Amino acid sequence: MCGIVGYKGKPVRVKDILDTLKMLEYRGYDSAGLAYSRDGILELRKVEGKIEKLYGLVDDSFTDLVIAHTRWATHGIPNDINAHPHVVGTLAVVHNGIIENYREIKNYLNGYQFKSETDSEVIVHLVNYFYKDNLFDSILASVKFLKGAFAFVLMDTKSGDLVAVKMESPIVIGLIDGGYIVSSDIPSIIKWTRRIITLENGDIFYISSGDFKIFNFIENRFVRRNIEIISWDLGIAEKSGYKHFMLKEINEQGKVIRDTIAGRIEKNEIILDEEVRNYLDSTDIRNIVYIACGTSYHAGLVGVYYSLELAGLNSHAVHASEYRYIDKSRVSLDDTLFVFISQSGETADTLSVARELKGMKAKILAIPNVIGSSMYREFLSFPTRAGVEIGVAATKTFTAQLINLLLLNLYLAKKKNIQIDGLVHEILTIHEFVDSILESYDQILELAQEYSDYQHFMYLGRHLMYPIALEGALKLKEISYIHAEAYPAGEMKHGPIALIDNKMPTFYLYPYNRLVNKNLSNIQEIKARKGKVIALVDKKTKEIAKDIVDRMIEIRYVNEYLQPILAVIPLQLFAYYIADWKGFNVDQPRNLAKSVTVE
Ligand code: F6R
Repeated sequence: MCGIVGYKGKPVRVKDILDTLKMLEYRGYDSAGLAYSRDGILELRKVEGKIEKLYGLVDDSFTDLVIAHTRWATHGIPNDINAHPHVVGTLAVVHNGIIENYREIKNYLNGYQFKSETDSEVIVHLVNYFYKDNLFDSILASVKFLKGAFAFVLMDTKSGDLVAVKMESPIVIGLIDGGYIVSSDIPSIIKWTRRIITLENGDIFYISSGDFKIFNFIENRFVRRNIEIISWDLGIAEKSGYKHFMLKEINEQGKVIRDTIAGRIEKNEIILDEEVRNYLDSTDIRNIVYIACGTSYHAGLVGVYYSLELAGLNSHAVHASEYRYIDKSRVSLDDTLFVFISQSGETADTLSVARELKGMKAKILAIPNVIGSSMYREFLSFPTRAGVEIGVAATKTFTAQLINLLLLNLYLAKKKNIQIDGLVHEILTIHEFVDSILESYDQILELAQEYSDYQHFMYLGRHLMYPIALEGALKLKEISYIHAEAYPAGEMKHGPIALIDNKMPTFYLYPYNRLVNKNLSNIQEIKARKGKVIALVDKKTKEIAKDIVDRMIEIRYVNEYLQPILAVIPLQLFAYYIADWKGFNVDQPRNLAKSVTVE
């Protein structure tokens, strides 16, 4: 993870570079730092904590050479020594990724004094070791030693040169009037320029006295890369009166649904996007595998139910972090569509599997949210249209993923002449019910305050409510730091029921569906063990549950394939209000980052 920025060009305010770095804070925020040239003298500032603290350490000075970093710790705790940049003499480096063989390099550089516990520091020592009088040659000698995923930017106040190197972790170069801005992503530099070069694996982008060259150390030759003109705009990243981005994003879900289906349904027929439709029309598909991480994986699990039951396809979902290390040589690729789901489009595990399967000529469809992300650029994409999501906990993007998965599977059903009555019409109106849940947020606020002192929660659901139980528990864990377990309710009797007592309430997802009575039995089993039950009900199950459960939250009764979309919203709000009530930083919970670009 981590965000990196570099600049070489006409003098700019050091604080302008911090403003750019701030846009990368979603990639990690446990410590930050920058190094810049003040008339050829290297100035270094590093802090434990957020970028905000760095502003206090720089004055209004200008510089023509600067690098900056926001960190998500992998090796070494967050403190100002482990914060980047790492400096040796006139050289300073910021790094995103993991140098897997850093211990071997440390042994090789026997005698060198390392100040930090990081893997990253070896880069600058290695470059310094090889540096005689030509920085480019020493970079070239150094990168051949490095193993792992890395994007780094290195500056040298002696030569005034700046270099950016890419291997797996993302890095882009913005071409500006009289200079270059380097960053981990495009959105952070759009206000500088729309002329962008995206580096490829093995690229060394070298800027010396106003000119640049790109050498690819894998191909061992100088290369040319296209300059892309970015036409898309950033969504509005403002809280618009909401206390947190997460609350704003939860509230945007009705609109997100409308945006995500726009132009993809015509006259009650699913038409998808032209390129995706053409691809699906010309492809034989009997199996669908969903591959993703975290919340996106939960969306994939919902997709499995859609594929099995609506599209009549064999289907399963796998964690990208697991599937990445499966020996795929005997995996059958025929008739199988691999669907990769990722909000950021940059998740290292997800991208790595997608690239591996692409290399094996598998059939691939990507569902990214971030336009311009690696996933979006490298694969046929059916993007969600949730707009920019700033809160680290995914909310509106999950809902958008569910919509895309439903549309995809309904299209595949249509392709097989499977008739599904009424559902398409309901998709067109579901946003109204989403908005109405959000209007009755005060009940959920009250519930959250009542239950905020519990240390453990159980989330249960069956069928399509099982992935939603997982998602509800994940939301509670990640922003409220409360332990939450989630299970398919039918599994409870195989072990988790041992946990139930009056100190572990259960959030039971109980909208009306084919398993209404099975669910009721499970609720009774919890009550028989003195467990408190908060039930998510609709008008049909409310009557059944009202005398049994402790508290109820009601959503609209809808087609069971649309229930995940409604059911997740109260769970998001519940986690949000508990976290806020406890005074936690909801938008930037501890230890997390929005984009997980390391293994
Ligand atoms: C949870 C959350 C994470 C992400 C996961 C995958 O709220 O945000 O679990 O879902 O890191 O990220 P993407 O979807 O960007 O691949």
